[in-house]
Amino acid sequence: MDTTEQRIKIAVQKSGRLTDHSRDLLERCGLKLTQSKDQLFCYGENMPVDLLLVRDDDIPGLVSDDVCDLGIVGLNVVNEKRLALEQSGKDALFDQVFELDFGHCRLSVAAPEDVEYSGAKSLQGKRIATSYVATLTDYLQRNGIDAEIVYFSGAVEIAPKLGKADFICDLVSSGATLTANHLGEVETVLESEAVVIQTREPLSDSKQEWVNRILQRLDGVLQVRESKYIMLHAPRAALAEISALLPGAESPTVIPLDGSGDKVAVHAVCRETVFWETLENLKAAGASSLLVLPVEKMLA
Ligand code: PRP
Ligand code: ZN
Repeated sequence: MDTTEQRIKIAVQKSGRLTDHSRDLLERCGLKLTQSKDQLFCYGENMPVDLLLVRDDDIPGLVSDDVCDLGIVGLNVVNEKRLALEQSGKDALFDQVFELDFGHCRLSVAAPEDVEYSGAKSLQGKRIATSYVATLTDYLQRNGIDAEIVYFSGAVEIAPKLGKADFICDLVSSGATLTANHLGEVETVLESEAVVIQTREPLSDSKQEWVNRILQRLDGVLQVRESKYIMLHAPRAALAEISALLPGAESPTVIPLDGSGDKVAVHAVCRETVFWETLENLKAAGASSLLVLPVEKMLA
């Protein structure tokens, strides 16, 4: 039954800022992986799911061409591929199906520190170095700016120093690369994070079922990341105030405590970070015996 045809292939970045997190997320969805000797392929032992480890820029193409069913890749790469296809009159044959809330970064225009910059019109007539030609073309068009785009496949940040460009347009995450090259961000072109894309080619029912299951588990993994289970004791009279203090909690469970008159136990799942201050405020409101536990799995 488990022929190659019926196995789901997910393209993930081979080595880069998304690699570890992508694998980690899939493993937390219950996928057990063994990596091939050539390091380009991971076999899913307990699910019909395999990973292809590739360059991130190749992921939208692999999913578009139906070589892979799913891909985990930065929105910056997805957007660039989609716009590049559109600008050459073609349609992207993949859909963005899920945001993963990691790998946050932005595609920005940056200027050398000594350049006077007064808004996007300062880009008019200038040379901008980038690997994101389609995204930058689209941005300039939308803002009615006429500028020359200079293509760099990498090391875009050195273009101004080489005298090849006046500005650059590149990914910024920590900002360390810009700082090291005496550049400063002047415009944000795109906010990015890791996303899941799926091929437009219809999948067999059994494959689609697995895809849905994976997406639902990913959703569960994202939900529990910040979630905590809080248990505390409280006088019944303080319940309203205490409930209001519980961060991101839906209706808490209230259990009467044996032989302690007016006291109840309150249990709640909090979907936001629980800070020490929160606990101190709860205590001040009358809560005692406070316990905060991590949540391992959640299925809505
Ligand atoms: C990006 C970008 C910069 C760096 C910025 O490259 O081209 O070099 O990251 O990150 P920082 O603000 O944290 O210094 P990336 O590592 O994503 O490589 P790629 O574009 O070749 O995939
Ligand atoms: Zn890349």
